Amino acid sequence: MHAANSNSSKPQPLNSWQRIGLFGGVYSNYLALEALLDDAKRRGVQSLYCLGDLGAFGPFPNRVCQILRETRIPIVQGNYDNSIGNGLADCQCGYTDARDNYFAKLSYDYTFRHTSSDNKAWLQKLSPAIRIEIGRYRILLCHGSPRKMSEFLWETTTSDAFLNWLFQKYDADIIVGTHTGLHWHREIAPGKHFINCGAIGRPPNDGQTTVVYRHRAGT
Ligand SMILES: [Fe+2]
Repeated sequence: MHAANSNSSKPQPLNSWQRIGLFGGVYSNYLALEALLDDAKRRGVQSLYCLGDLGAFGPFPNRVCQILRETRIPIVQGNYDNSIGNGLADCQCGYTDARDNYFAKLSYDYTFRHTSSDNKAWLQKLSPAIRIEIGRYRILLCHGSPRKMSEFLWETTTSDAFLNWLFQKYDADIIVGTHTGLHWHREIAPGKHFINCGAIGRPPNDGQTTVVYRHRAGT
């Protein structure tokens, strides 16, 4: 279990008129990452944040590391990054099905073998959480949940009471994660939002082969 150690990082205040972009679950899909970066530029996004899980599934894990290292986008460490960076035996993905674990292990071993030592050292040092402030909003960026890097927060099984507990315990108005790879958003009270920003590197388990991300106009 990896706590997001959210109280140790100083929030980064942003201008309230900034347009920000949040993404995670790159999964070695450097083509999707390049497309997202181009689109963010076109839309005038001033600050981008990556919520982790850079490797897995795709064939060229170093390419995603290289792009993100060059862009210097702040990155939250995902379970995959933590495992690869620390040389662990598996991805800590949290699957419970034997078949899922079988394929996850194949993918993990491949990714581990094809990630350079330099990129492993870089992944190992990524932060488990990032705090930013926009206007009056205290925003906590994590991977699974603020309390556990590999926690699955599904839309259908996450209660308002639990989210409220997270907002209070971690001093946040908005919490953003990725890990499950499925986008969802809930405002449990005025100004209190939980957002899963989805994953850009894999389809959202919808039977399609295309990856997606969403954008919305701010207020
Ligand atoms: Fe993850």
